[in-house]
Amino acid sequence: MCGIVGYIGSEDAKEILLRGLEKLEYRGYDSAGIAVANEDGVHVFKEKGRIAALRNVVDEAVDGTVGIGHTRWATHGVPSRTNAHPHQSETARFTLVHNGVIENYEQLKAEYLKDVDLQSDTDTEIIVQLVDRLVKDGQTVEAAFSHTLSLLKGSYAIALLDKQNSDLVYVGKNKSPLLIGVGDGVNVIASDAMAMLQVTNQFVEIMDKEIVLVTRDNITIKTLDGTVMTRSPYTAELDASDIEKGTYPHFMLKEIDEQPFVIRNIIQKYQNENGTVRLDEDIREAMKSSDRIYIIAAGTSYHAGLVGKQLIEKIAERPVEVHIASEFLYNMPLLSENPLFIFISQSGETADLRGVLVDVKEKGYKALTITNVPGSTLSREADFTLHTYAGPEIAVASTKAYTAQMAVLTLLAVDTANAKGIELDFDPIQELGIVASAMEALCDQKEKLEQIARDYLAVTRNCFFIGRAADYFVCLEGALKLKEISYIQAEGFAGGELKHGTIALIEEGTPVVAIATQEHVNLSIRGNVKEVAARGANPCIISMEGLAHDGDAFVIPKVHEHLTSLATVIPLQLISYYAALHRDCDVDKPRNLAKSVTVE
Ligand code: F6R
Repeated sequence: MCGIVGYIGSEDAKEILLRGLEKLEYRGYDSAGIAVANEDGVHVFKEKGRIAALRNVVDEAVDGTVGIGHTRWATHGVPSRTNAHPHQSETARFTLVHNGVIENYEQLKAEYLKDVDLQSDTDTEIIVQLVDRLVKDGQTVEAAFSHTLSLLKGSYAIALLDKQNSDLVYVGKNKSPLLIGVGDGVNVIASDAMAMLQVTNQFVEIMDKEIVLVTRDNITIKTLDGTVMTRSPYTAELDASDIEKGTYPHFMLKEIDEQPFVIRNIIQKYQNENGTVRLDEDIREAMKSSDRIYIIAAGTSYHAGLVGKQLIEKIAERPVEVHIASEFLYNMPLLSENPLFIFISQSGETADLRGVLVDVKEKGYKALTITNVPGSTLSREADFTLHTYAGPEIAVASTKAYTAQMAVLTLLAVDTANAKGIELDFDPIQELGIVASAMEALCDQKEKLEQIARDYLAVTRNCFFIGRAADYFVCLEGALKLKEISYIQAEGFAGGELKHGTIALIEEGTPVVAIATQEHVNLSIRGNVKEVAARGANPCIISMEGLAHDGDAFVIPKVHEHLTSLATVIPLQLISYYAALHRDCDVDKPRNLAKSVTVE
């Protein structure tokens, strides 16, 4: 969570920093701030709330060609102007922005800064005060910066300005994402390349426990003990239009509509010339030789993992367990002899997953990351990566990344089956093509889905999603989408589980969305619908062609039984979108959330 930017060049830094922060707002939007350095000193502007609020307090008259900025998702200290970054040292010589969490900030304060009157409640302020203290004690700024970072426990991506030398920005990284963008007479700093595509598409990755000295013409990367590292830039293959809404009112709607293209893109990327699936030989071997697969994920990606388990077990006949990342280390199952870990993560940065990855790598196990961001931490630290090719996902609520993950898991299952010599009567390329067309047809029915949102969700305070077999997994995702953006309390349940407790919650008019796309449980889920209807619920049945009954609220085009979740989720995403819109919620930036959860 939180995003940082930095600029050192020849143009006015303010606008570049603000535009950069707007692109990073998905990482947190509790408060924001920038600091701009010029011959008069370092000027800090910060405000509670969004970048739009920050713009109102930035003094247009302050020019400067060097600056740093921050958008915050509060961890230590409430969202407020005081707790907003940048933070300054007591003497105001140093100014700093930080993304991450410093676990030992209280010990550091007690040990080194007893006499300092901290201005904020953040863990961050300690860093800038410590640099100042070490410089006062006689260290050079670079030595003090490295020394301070070596004392920190936790995660950080940091940019620091020194009022006495504003031709240099000090940067440091551990666990939190950080890139340096390089240009001609200009260099930039960003948590995500998207923020600085406005300046350059050439980026250098920074590794954990490295510092970078950034000037207009140079970047010098060093380890904390001073060893100079050399690293070449890579080209960020992002199109500026990928990160714009275009004519869409919200990123979420744009990203829902992009799903058919994403599926076709995945087919193209993972297809051989002869029309069969092609994955990396090493991944194939790791899948084939493992005796059990452990999928680790969080939130929506966890829901994709549940579908992935079914796909891999049914298609490739490998046993799979799916675990919530934040629980895995505390409730670790007995592992098999030769496990393979699959980490599913849109961002590739989720701290809960990284904790597990570090642990299983220490134990010597192999790990595959399925991610939308190939250069991300989870991608770099795993043995193998499968890219989901969904393009940047900006809306906080995940949509296209989820379907992309399931499409890639399908191909992984098929490739493993092929490697094991299992005869399949399932052509994934053809069937995913059918899914893409079904998605298009579903996205064309927005008016109908908007009406469903109006009819069922306009005034309710809660809503249940029920399904059986594969439909249960998509119910979990449908409920998550609805609750996170519309704030309606929504829960997904297995249809058969209702009478074991949940049915007590059904009241007159309670909306119950029932999914009926599975032939073998079609009658049982419809039986569950009758049970809730008899107790006053307002059921909304979403079924699939061939299984529909009169009175169903919405019918999905037929797709292969392995792939129903990819189609079924589209109406659920759109219903959630319209429910949130009708309730005047901020669809792309729901309260209390951030896109990338980089703290545990
Ligand atoms: C919900 C959502 C979250 C993420 C979760 C994991 O719409 O986006 O539940 O799925 O925070 O994030 P990643 O996939 O980036 O690891």
